[in-house]
Amino acid sequence: MRPADLWRHSSFRLALGVTLFILTALILASGVGYGLMQGQLTARQDARVTEIFAAIEQTSLEGDEADLVEAIAARIKASPDRSTAYLLKDGAGRVLAGNIRDAGLAPGWSTVAASHLGVETDYPYRMFSGQAGPYNLTVGLTNADLDDLREIVLGAFGWAALFALLGTISVGTVLAARVQKRLSQAEDAAARVAQGDLSARLPVLGRGDDLDRISIAINLSLARLEGSVEAMRQVSADIAHDLRTPLNRLRIRIETASARLEQGLPVEDDLAAATAESDRINEIFSALLRIAQIESGARRENFRTLDLAALMRDVADVYAEVAEDAGQILRPDAEGSAPVMGDRELLTQAFANLIENAIRHCPPGTVITCAVTETLGQVTASVRDTGPGIPAGERDKVLRRLYRLEKSRTTEGTGLGLALVKAVADLHGASLVLGDAAPGLRVDLKFHPIVGAI
Ligand SMILES: Nc1ncnc2c1ncn2[C@@H]1O[C@H](COP(=O)(O)OP(=O)(O)OP(=O)(O)O)[C@@H](O)[C@H]1O
Ligand SMILES: [Mg+2]
Repeated sequence: MRPADLWRHSSFRLALGVTLFILTALILASGVGYGLMQGQLTARQDARVTEIFAAIEQTSLEGDEADLVEAIAARIKASPDRSTAYLLKDGAGRVLAGNIRDAGLAPGWSTVAASHLGVETDYPYRMFSGQAGPYNLTVGLTNADLDDLREIVLGAFGWAALFALLGTISVGTVLAARVQKRLSQAEDAAARVAQGDLSARLPVLGRGDDLDRISIAINLSLARLEGSVEAMRQVSADIAHDLRTPLNRLRIRIETASARLEQGLPVEDDLAAATAESDRINEIFSALLRIAQIESGARRENFRTLDLAALMRDVADVYAEVAEDAGQILRPDAEGSAPVMGDRELLTQAFANLIENAIRHCPPGTVITCAVTETLGQVTASVRDTGPGIPAGERDKVLRRLYRLEKSRTTEGTGLGLALVKAVADLHGASLVLGDAAPGLRVDLKFHPIVGAI
């Protein structure tokens, strides 16, 4: 991986950011530590200088000048490296004893460079100048300890910084390389999806880390998308196939009409039949568009709280006479009220489709029952009949668009009625169950309970 690429990786930048933070903390900690130790060492050094000064001052008070000079000479001898500095001057400013140059230091404390005192060492001196009896006495100590301390602190910080930086670069590089590998695989998968290959999936390593979790979520969406696209493809193919029959019939009607026209025969009947055929095709298209519109979910905005039992009673009322004409008995069995959230028009249409199916696909003498019940807040609307029913293996298929049982091919209808009921059920989050009413068909629409009743 090139350094420029490395910089583009968030994991690398994060590692570097953490290091910079640690380095800043290290600088602050070193600074504070150094300051504290410097204060301690300076205080100790000053105490030592004060001690030596007091001892010499004591000698100056007890003995004569020769004793004093001798005492200082003895001290100077004991410090051949001149780490302790002495300078004794009399009242006239003449140097009586000492191992440093007279730098004319002001009374009190001062920190002086060694060169200023004529000493060849890198370390500065901590000096005290003052009166010792009639004499002017200067005592000092090199600051070697302090300098050593600074070197130790700077050295430690330097090494720590170096290790932290090297560590970051190597850890960051390894991390970035690992993440890069997975991201590249994800990029490949995204590119394949963009080219229409919906079977592409992101790699899941099974570590349960954040990348795994995101990959699993994206894979799930891809699987769903693949499923819907496949279903849509299937539906389009089915529709194209099923529309071919009425279109062919229309064509035959028109061809027959033109043939009869050539022979000078009347064509009114053929034209009427062709018009009816095209009306039927129109109907199929409208129903298909209606189902697609329901499936888009846009109608969910029209949802209101409504009484499903009252709605079922109204629809059953409308169909009572039609059933009677067909020699059947329609029994409404929806007492009281059953509140649900929904679209009145679509639910009316769904119930009408179910009742129409029972009337259309069942023989005379059939009893049709339309019920709405509520148990523990769950509202179930059901339409059952005592007709031939739908075999268990066909119950899923009849929910598809344009699917009709073989025996119903000759009856009127398009095979879109139950597909619409299914779309309405899905829109309402209700489950649609086709069962055996032994004998007959039972269709249940189970709604989720809602909070708050009418
Ligand atoms: N109550 C029923 N009893 C027996 N068979 C039924 C019943 N309801 C539906 N079916 C079968 O399921 C098929 C699909 O029903 P669906 O309502 O989708 O279409 P359709 O009634 O044929 O036409 P339409 O689009 O006019 O409703 C029907 O063709 C019929 O074979
Ligand atoms: Mg129908």
